[in-house]
Amino acid sequence: MTPKILAFAGSLRKDSYNKKLIKIAIKGAEEAGGQVTYIDLKDYPLPIYDQDIEDATGLPENALKLKKLFEGHDGFLISAPEYNSSLSAAFKNVIDWVSRPARADEVYLCGFIDKVVTLMSASPGGLGGLRGLVHARSMFSNIYSIVLPRQKCIVQADQAFLPDGNLKDPKAQKEVQNLGKGLVEFFKRP
Ligand SMILES: Cc1cc2nc3c(=O)[nH]c(=O)nc-3n(C[C@H](O)[C@H](O)[C@H](O)COP(=O)(O)O)c2cc1C
Repeated sequence: MTPKILAFAGSLRKDSYNKKLIKIAIKGAEEAGGQVTYIDLKDYPLPIYDQDIEDATGLPENALKLKKLFEGHDGFLISAPEYNSSLSAAFKNVIDWVSRPARADEVYLCGFIDKVVTLMSASPGGLGGLRGLVHARSMFSNIYSIVLPRQKCIVQADQAFLPDGNLKDPKAQKEVQNLGKGLVEFFKRP
């Protein structure tokens, strides 16, 4: 089986540290034989979730596209920035839209059930986004995803990357690559 992995950062920012970090984990996932789809959430602009919009016009086009991507992959590789000790609004908004049913006969939360999730984060701060991952882990568990125990938080992310996008610390670089590898290998267990 070739696991299909959807990879993204929970940041819209062009020079996002989390976008750099997820690309390192993707390398590990691809080297382990995973088929990775990388998306930039900036390419899927969405209104803040509002049930009046949903009631009036259904899910926006980009929510439907994202929902299809979530449903069509086995696992999610996510690097999530920490905003005020929690998830970024951009990331949470995507989860909220994707959680909404698009068809009358669909299974509730079908984009998340039994999906395997690996989390990581990067922040210029001293905790590296760790507190946000607590919330991300809780959220995914509550919507029936399986969140793998291993994660990595890059502290002082503003000084952590080389110009080529890799991490200056080779041990951290390997750990992040291994997150991607570990996610793919989870599907290859007997
Ligand atoms: C609204 C807001 C709240 C933030 N709150 C936190 C926080 O609680 N903890 C933290 O480590 N960094 C916090 N930051 C700093 C982010 O970690 C920093 O902007 C980081 O670069 C965001 O990730 P990105 O580089 O992937 O865009 C906050 C930034 C913003 C804009």
